[in-house]
Amino acid sequence: MASRIRVLGNAVRAPSSCIRIAARAASTTTPPSSSGQTTVPPVEPNHEPGPSTSRTTHFGFKEVPLEDKETLVGSVFSSVASSYDLMNDSMSLGIHRLWKDSFVSSVLPRLPASLHQNPNSPTTTPRAPFKCLDVAGGTGDIALRILDRAREKFACRDIEVEIVDLNQGMLDEGRKRVAKTLYYNTPQISFTHGNAQSLPAHIEDNSIDLYTIAFGIRNCTSLPAVLSEAYRVLKPGGKIGVLEFGKVTNPLFRQIYRQYSFSFIPIMGKILAGDSESYQYLVESIERFPSQPEFAQLMRDAGFQTGQLREGKGGAWTDYTNGIATAWTGVKA
Ligand SMILES: C[S@@+](CC[C@H](N)C(=O)[O-])C[C@H]1O[C@@H](n2cnc3c(N)ncnc32)[C@H](O)[C@@H]1O
Repeated sequence: MASRIRVLGNAVRAPSSCIRIAARAASTTTPPSSSGQTTVPPVEPNHEPGPSTSRTTHFGFKEVPLEDKETLVGSVFSSVASSYDLMNDSMSLGIHRLWKDSFVSSVLPRLPASLHQNPNSPTTTPRAPFKCLDVAGGTGDIALRILDRAREKFACRDIEVEIVDLNQGMLDEGRKRVAKTLYYNTPQISFTHGNAQSLPAHIEDNSIDLYTIAFGIRNCTSLPAVLSEAYRVLKPGGKIGVLEFGKVTNPLFRQIYRQYSFSFIPIMGKILAGDSESYQYLVESIERFPSQPEFAQLMRDAGFQTGQLREGKGGAWTDYTNGIATAWTGVKA
């Protein structure tokens, strides 16, 4: 049966079994210039936090019907799931590992004293585990770092991370990865298929100590809906950490970075994953994400306490590599 995936101004007929093709058609392919070189498009306006009208939203640089976005995003991640970890390393030259390490240290600087294990005086009192939710957790990069940090730095195994992700392919890759670790088959890690904008029903109000979302929120249709769900499930005093691509602050570096992103990343996607269009979407979605202060304001609007609306110590966010990536943190009042 054929289903119609509408990209505004560019209707595409696609078999429902082949949504990925629709995603490719929906993706804006940057036209080659007459010299054969890829043209970097002019700077796009940041996307508005919610749907851009009541019926449409953005998918990269395209406007698409609201109800199609999740399917299109899903098709991107189904396409890249098996090569996702390799591509992350190649595209960022491995630097994403440093960003994620710093991010996890910043959201988990310490654990409550009750959770610090003293190997010389084993306690008999059962302790409530420290509960983390890693939303859009994909292949488990953040979840595994959280568990490793708690174990290595604080000798703590009373910590649990639930990964929630919309894409089954990404979750399957994550499960394979966890099978190679000492957390396999333990209650410390679990995987749930679910949507950041409407978390699965078993995740109760005021039940989570730490909520993380890394490189996931820009793919969601409504940023306020994601933040409001995060606020709902966190305990009072619980922390939120958002890691996402930011805006490069140095103008010259920004130009170089955009040239690299629009020219090089889709080509790398083609070579390593056989899929340039999904990577073109990823680059475009980065461009459309709000700036650092705009996103910090959205967190405040959702009810989170943040630092001041500036970068660095005492500020609401920390830039990594001149703002290529940014970590925002907040606390549920
Ligand atoms: C770029 S990956 C990031 C994965 C992982 N957090 C990391 O840092 O490596 C983005 C993930 O967001 C997921 N995602 C996109 N939209 C989502 C939504 N509405 N709810 C939950 N997950 C979503 C995708 O399926 C994908 O696994």
